[in-house]
Amino acid sequence: MHKLCDLISLIEDSPTLALNEKAKKLQQSGADVINLGIGEPLNDIPNSALKYARRKLDTRQLKYGPVGGIQSLKTAIQEYTRIHYGITPDLHNITINVGAKQALFNLLNVLLNPGDETILFTPYWVSYPEIIKLARGKIVLVDTNDKFLPDMDQVKEAITGNTKAIILNSPNNPTGTVYPPELVAALVDYCETKKIYLIMDDIYHQLVFDPAQWVPGFVFTSKPIDKSYLIIINGISKTYGMTGFRIGWTIGPKPVIAAMEKIQSHSTSGASTLLQEAALGALLEGESVIQDIKQLIRTNRDILISELMKIPGIKLTKPLGTFYCFPDFSGINPDSRELATLLLEKAFVSTVPGIAFGKDGFLRLSYTCSTAQIIESAARIRWAIDPASPNEIIINGEKHQRDWEI
Ligand SMILES: Cc1ncc(COP(=O)(O)O)c(C=O)c1O
Repeated sequence: MHKLCDLISLIEDSPTLALNEKAKKLQQSGADVINLGIGEPLNDIPNSALKYARRKLDTRQLKYGPVGGIQSLKTAIQEYTRIHYGITPDLHNITINVGAKQALFNLLNVLLNPGDETILFTPYWVSYPEIIKLARGKIVLVDTNDKFLPDMDQVKEAITGNTKAIILNSPNNPTGTVYPPELVAALVDYCETKKIYLIMDDIYHQLVFDPAQWVPGFVFTSKPIDKSYLIIINGISKTYGMTGFRIGWTIGPKPVIAAMEKIQSHSTSGASTLLQEAALGALLEGESVIQDIKQLIRTNRDILISELMKIPGIKLTKPLGTFYCFPDFSGINPDSRELATLLLEKAFVSTVPGIAFGKDGFLRLSYTCSTAQIIESAARIRWAIDPASPNEIIINGEKHQRDWEI
């Protein structure tokens, strides 16, 4: 028998990837699966990303780069931060990582001693608990209200002498919630006073729909970055639809950034210099792609929401950002795995069960596919779970009968 370390037995496989695999297999067997389980826009990558990457390839010089990232990309991130956050970090406050995921992994590994606590708000992004466990930290969950917002009193009650960090993800995966400025201000103020790191995972910050407004935490502190307990995580995966490039970054106080680079120097040696060039192209000239993504997902969101609202038993908080919504299906089936399996196997619609985000009874539906697919998926979901809807549906030219109890 192979004997692995104890820590690894505590780590769950990514449930989103597992369901994607199942959906892919069904697709390969000829089924017309609509994938509302995915976590990425489906756009072509920006031309400027290709241009910059090609230019780099043509030099035929692709060697090790600086561990914390190439200077040109750091400078572009500095400017991006000035524009979007109203602060200008020094280059020593910036480190470039292999996606926001590695940024979080490195960060929690440099912050947490065994048993140190990190607060997450439920529902949370699936990887946070596992990254905390890998960093030998302890997860503390604080539940949210029906708008998916935490209550400051409950946050304060959850704080102990071992609390090291709070993770704030706004706009939020899986709910699409954008945190109101008062709440961000209260969290910033509390964390700065108590010297608790407030990790702001801003990976979706440009995907916000009018009139909602995303407010960067740094607006609410007067401390310079090196003295502050605020840390920004960001990247190109979601806003530019460049998930496969694996470029993310961290902005924080110098000692934290330097420690993260120590870890990175002994693990990946840094993000690929070729892909950093592509990211540079996106940041400098790829803005129009963001607008295209936003336009599509806004249309899709509005259609999906209005169609879901017609199904009795579903409760819904309108997402103000991201490309996810997180309806409450507990009135139909409180077991989210069972419901997601039914929708995949009978209606050929792939979703992610809420239990993966710490909230059973809910499903996460992603709306980055085509508008025609959104309309079709809503019709199929309704057929599968609304007994008042017609008993028959045509899927991919074939007649299907609803022959199960709801
Ligand atoms: C909230 C959140 N943070 C971070 C990430 C990881 O992003 P990246 O692709 O840059 O590693 C994701 C990806 O799904 C996410 O949803």
